[in-house]
Amino acid sequence: MPAPPPDARSFRSEVVSVVPCGADAVLLTLRPELRLPPIRSSRFFMLRREDALSPAIPRPFSIYRQNGDTIEFLVKVMGRGTSALAQSTPGTKLRTLGPLGNGWPTLSGGGAPWVMLGGGVGSAPFFMAIEQALAGMDGAPPTQRSDLTFLFGAAHKGFLYDVDAFERLGIRVRTATIDGSHGFQGNVLQLLESLQRSNELPERVRLLACGPERMLEAVARFADERHLDCWLSLETLMGCGVGICNGCPIPTNPSGPRGSWGNVKCCVEGPVFKSTEILLGALH
Ligand SMILES: Cc1cc2nc3c(=O)[nH]c(=O)nc-3n(C[C@H](O)[C@H](O)[C@H](O)COP(=O)(O)OP(=O)(O)OC[C@H]3O[C@@H](n4cnc5c(N)ncnc54)[C@H](O)[C@@H]3O)c2cc1C
Ligand code: FES
Repeated sequence: MPAPPPDARSFRSEVVSVVPCGADAVLLTLRPELRLPPIRSSRFFMLRREDALSPAIPRPFSIYRQNGDTIEFLVKVMGRGTSALAQSTPGTKLRTLGPLGNGWPTLSGGGAPWVMLGGGVGSAPFFMAIEQALAGMDGAPPTQRSDLTFLFGAAHKGFLYDVDAFERLGIRVRTATIDGSHGFQGNVLQLLESLQRSNELPERVRLLACGPERMLEAVARFADERHLDCWLSLETLMGCGVGICNGCPIPTNPSGPRGSWGNVKCCVEGPVFKSTEILLGALH
């Protein structure tokens, strides 16, 4: 039976700062009341304010950065839960549950280069992925900068959050916007194809993607047609985050490695899945 990770804890944290980011998001920095060990990128926390401003059900957020005794989240304001978090001020108390989920695989060097595709706030799980790959993780040697590419896409430049910070990491970062307001005009897959055509990237790459469902569907199709290894981090709606409420089912691919069971729970078996394990079209 899939179960919550053994290192997950429910604890209180205090808001350190809330800084506007892009057109509609904030960078939310928290100081947990307990000391957290280093957290793998693309794991997540369930967050809610302890006062009545937050809905009773907490909301899931990928860890964006971890610095000493603080953890940071990139929160795009969507509805009541994210608005309440964005309206927090230094000292606001949050109920914090995590770290939850599995996280990205280790981005080891030596094989095909890694290409990370982030759509809008789907960029959140990539910042630490790049930091951790450059530092070396799980005993793997540090990955060369030239083996890491981040393609950041959005409808327009206001949704390319914190892009300067990604550029400062020193890897290849390219942006794509549908309206052409920043970088390449088009989506991240069109950008990837254009980089492959100009030989900036080879045909054989390993893909990681996080973003809107339709983007992830297109990425999974792209990978399938070209037989590329591809991992997706899903941002489904969630209730509990720990496998109890059945609020986050993802249909499995019947011919894939998880096909013996009809659904997986995104919170405890994900949020990262290989693209061949799941069926995305059924999500909407
Ligand atoms: C593992 C995981 C990691 C996530 N990481 C981040 C992150 O780092 N930063 C971030 O900003 N968000 C992240 N999300 C999404 C975030 O949890 C939702 O945006 C949030 O729950 C919305 O809550 P709300 O109360 O503000 O909006 P609601 O009132 O719940 O919803 C407002 C509107 O947004 C829609 N909506 C809500 N959630 C989603 C979603 N996941 N996808 C598409 N539409 C949605 C609703 O259908 C509704 O129309 C993550 C989700 C998951 C599962
Ligand atoms: S969110 Fe409750 S089971 Fe996954």
